[in-house]
Amino acid sequence: MHPTINIATRAARSAGNLLLRYFDRVDTLTIDSKGLNDFVTEVDRASEQVIIELLRKTYPGHAIRAEESGYKGGGSDYEWIIDPLDGTTNYLHGFPQFSISIALKHKGVLEQALVYDPMREEMFTATRGEGAQLNDRRIRVTSRKGLQGALLGTGFPYREQAHLDAYLGMFKSFVKETAGLRRPGSAALDLAYVAAGRVDGFWELGLAQWDIAAGALLVKEAGGVVSDFNGGERYLESGNVIAGGLKVHKLMLKMIQPHLSDHLRF
Ligand code: IPD
Ligand code: CA
Ligand code: CA
Repeated sequence: MHPTINIATRAARSAGNLLLRYFDRVDTLTIDSKGLNDFVTEVDRASEQVIIELLRKTYPGHAIRAEESGYKGGGSDYEWIIDPLDGTTNYLHGFPQFSISIALKHKGVLEQALVYDPMREEMFTATRGEGAQLNDRRIRVTSRKGLQGALLGTGFPYREQAHLDAYLGMFKSFVKETAGLRRPGSAALDLAYVAAGRVDGFWELGLAQWDIAAGALLVKEAGGVVSDFNGGERYLESGNVIAGGLKVHKLMLKMIQPHLSDHLRF
């Protein structure tokens, strides 16, 4: 394992332990609202602190972009992108599907990725050019050739609802063409599941970079394709993402085109 991923793994495990400790007592947590259907708890913040402190010990000069505390430390070629709890809505309901997502960019290129599911103790990791692993075992996307029989992951636009109709159009097309759709509730983990071949593809719109960064590198290193809604590389900027094996990705991209408004064209 790459030494950097080793450090990130330790940080994710500590944060994961913290998430599990509070999981049985979610009713005691202080919950703040950041916007419509957008909640943050003291656990999101504490998890983020644990991760940042551990990373800072080894890499004091690196920049950090984290969901709850924002961006710190310009001037470095290295930037960590952190979602300390992906799937907060699930977590708050005691629904056991959530993750921690940590990625490292060097000069703007994603180099390291980690998504950790503390409930199942599943650690998904990838280093650019070296493949993707689940608990140290190599993973690959599926080699499915068509949408027939495919299982796809997705996420609903439950906060920003401007594109709800466009999304529902895509949803309807995929319901008709595939074996099934799943909305597990943690985009980072959804992408990790594409990498592990548990779903054939995934799409969602309006995500943030910390939802996507680690999962995108996992999918690519597992032999898959990740793009924005135009088939381009700007998914971290647009927050619109499609991921899957080569063929499934291509078909999904084609399928969503009739539903895209100008705002969704990348
Ligand atoms: C959310 C989850 C969810 C996705 C949302 C994200 P959060 O992240 O990834 O699956 O549908 O768009 O914002 O808020 O739980 O970190
Ligand atoms: Ca998130
Ligand atoms: Ca989060």
